[in-house]
Amino acid sequence: MASGTDGRPKNVAIIMDGNGRWAQKRGLPRTVGHHRGVDRAREIIRVAPDLGIETLTLFAFSTENWRRPAYEVSVLMTLFRRYIRREAAELDMEGVQVRFIGRREGLPRDLQNLMHELEARTKDNTRLILQLALNYGARTEMTEGVKKIARAVAAGEIDPEKIGEETISEALWTGGVPDPDLVIRTSGEMRISNFLLWQIAYAELAFVDECWPDFDGALLEKILGSFAGRERRFGALKAIGLG
Ligand code: FPP
Repeated sequence: MASGTDGRPKNVAIIMDGNGRWAQKRGLPRTVGHHRGVDRAREIIRVAPDLGIETLTLFAFSTENWRRPAYEVSVLMTLFRRYIRREAAELDMEGVQVRFIGRREGLPRDLQNLMHELEARTKDNTRLILQLALNYGARTEMTEGVKKIARAVAAGEIDPEKIGEETISEALWTGGVPDPDLVIRTSGEMRISNFLLWQIAYAELAFVDECWPDFDGALLEKILGSFAGRERRFGALKAIGLG
């Protein structure tokens, strides 16, 4: 089981929800919530390794988020650009390996370039794998993965009879990165919203009422603690000694 020696989840994915509502409740523009959301993400990335987290996946922008007002989408793209420019050196120094998952072609060209540069700069780091989901949708990811496998079959590189779960895992954008042990969603919503559908088959789920701008390291630690020592049996029976 992929959890630490004290049984705490090591591979954590977070649906950062509720930025807009957090701001609206305070009579502020929704975009203020997104600014605050980036600050929270920075804090969580900084504390994650100290909490025993080895891979952290953050859902920053979904394939459905393009339906938001153009102004809000443009603010979010600017926030992502600024985040990468400002944080690149620190992420690298902290030993974070950044990987982006999602459909790149839909994103502004200059943002794609920044993403590529950050991945290249941090590719050998090992203290934390940080997957940032940008223009991400699990069904798109799986569709792309199926096409990749189909092309390999057509080229005679893969025998269809040899396709296994591992083949599919490898064909996804998350290929080579461990599946989450725990998915957290903030803001009280109890949905998965097309996030890592294949990868979370056996994950624990935590739904918390706090909106993302109120989510901090202490709350993350509390959630991890509450999942410590849980037995994930992957469908098997509890192991019993037979004498
Ligand atoms: C949910 O709030 C959040 C998003 C749409 C994504 C924005 C995420 C950030 C700004 C953090 C990005 C972090 C990094 C590291 C790049 P919402 O607008 O859906 O809230 P609502 O449900 O209240 O409207």
